[in-house]
Amino acid sequence: MRSLDILSRRGLLLGLGTGTAAMGAGRAALADPVFAEYPFQLGIAAGDPSSDGFVIWTRLAPRPLEIGNGMPSVPMPVKWEVATSPGFGTIARSGEVIARPELAHAVHVEVEGLEPNREYFYRFIAGRERTATGRAKTAPEAGAATAQARFGVVGCQAYEQGFYTAHRKAAEERLDFIYCYGDYIYEGRGNRTFNGPAGTSENARQHIGGEIYALDEYRRRYAQYKMDTDLQASHASTAWYVTWDDHEIDNNWVSALDQDGTPPEIFMLRQQAAMQAFYEHMPMRRSAFPRGSATQLYRHAAWGDLLDLNLLDTRQYRTNQPCDDAWASTCAGVSAADAQVLGQAQEAWLYQNLDRSRAHWKVLAQQVMVMDLDRKEGPEPGYNLDTWAGYSIPRARLLRRLKDRRIGNTIVLTGDEHQNYAGELHLDGRNPEGAPIASEFVTTSISSSGDGQDQRADGRRIQADNSFLKFNNAQRGYVVCDVTPERWQTEFKVLDKVSERGGTLTTRAKFAVASGDARVVAA
Ligand SMILES: [Fe+2]
Repeated sequence: MRSLDILSRRGLLLGLGTGTAAMGAGRAALADPVFAEYPFQLGIAAGDPSSDGFVIWTRLAPRPLEIGNGMPSVPMPVKWEVATSPGFGTIARSGEVIARPELAHAVHVEVEGLEPNREYFYRFIAGRERTATGRAKTAPEAGAATAQARFGVVGCQAYEQGFYTAHRKAAEERLDFIYCYGDYIYEGRGNRTFNGPAGTSENARQHIGGEIYALDEYRRRYAQYKMDTDLQASHASTAWYVTWDDHEIDNNWVSALDQDGTPPEIFMLRQQAAMQAFYEHMPMRRSAFPRGSATQLYRHAAWGDLLDLNLLDTRQYRTNQPCDDAWASTCAGVSAADAQVLGQAQEAWLYQNLDRSRAHWKVLAQQVMVMDLDRKEGPEPGYNLDTWAGYSIPRARLLRRLKDRRIGNTIVLTGDEHQNYAGELHLDGRNPEGAPIASEFVTTSISSSGDGQDQRADGRRIQADNSFLKFNNAQRGYVVCDVTPERWQTEFKVLDKVSERGGTLTTRAKFAVASGDARVVAA
């Protein structure tokens, strides 16, 4: 009766079904609820495809921007269906899952028992309401001969700084999957303007509220982002592999350290809230369920014998940025012997994956640039210290290992920079010796930094000063990778504007890497 009282007092549900569904532990869930407002306003998503399934996600939130999300504080059953066609004529798998108030009524279903390398369609039903239909593909079986894959790379979608036209366009591509490198949300307060490389610009739209610290604030920020229908279309079009970067929690955080010198035990409370909200809103497996201020985010995925995806976490185990993270500088801390980017456990795990891999291409799907770009004008070098260049010992350890063990066909996929870059990896970019060890493609932002331009003045100079850098562009967009056993191709797709809806998408450049040769060449 308690739940009925709450419901009628809030007036959020117009009526109730007669039954309750057994919930375990003596709790009852409402069955057959009638929603006064559409409960699936945050859309749907699929993630982490394997050869026999994927995760499907949704959240009940009739009033997504309110605390409590317009939901009564009771568990609620949600039905799900996975079919082999968009008409749902043949249901491959179906079931019911409980949306719990502890998780903001988010649901994650790890669908199993599907066929490899096949397209599926999914939807959710609660009461008389149904979601749109999502599409997701299962991966080819690990090791199975796979002729090609076509996938997208996205990230850095500051809501305020532009519209998500890139997501709308990516959705139309019906990609095999999308890798999201992070900065899915930004934690900053609502602002009318932002300071970018081109000076002060008007924001296209505004965050609600101040900088976010508490769980309900992170939830509301995710809700605001996820109400964007272009982003929803991108999720509905294919499954995503998601990692985070910094802004899911706070700018440039590493380990338990933020940029403001907050005591770690206090920052860890913020991390705990942010990590719970991240899990609640991402199509992640149960293995990524947060434990306090820790989340097992790094993981491996295979796409047949074509791709080994090492999804890395370059934030949670990293040592502090050297030289106070001053832009385009260097100091003794850059070569600190005990510096870590991945941390010992993740690094050992990655090296083992690389040693054992029999895939044609080994992918490091991660966040911050591995190329040691010299960003400072003049003879003295200066680095972005929030990238691998600020951590020369672990960076050299990784590249030396690839070189010494002759681990070829390694592709690094990166975000963070809000620019496109393509280049080659050497132990020391200032003195490149012999053939490159691996290749790196940096994907620009969906919206962060606003409209941008083809190339910034500093981008032109940096490209001229760093011979291993083959391409730089400072517009918004996304990347599509077309991969066969013989050849990797990266296509940089850019928009003329994101400050208004309806920007025009063009292919700015294509670069290729041939099997057995890490050079990055125009395609
Ligand atoms: Fe970003």
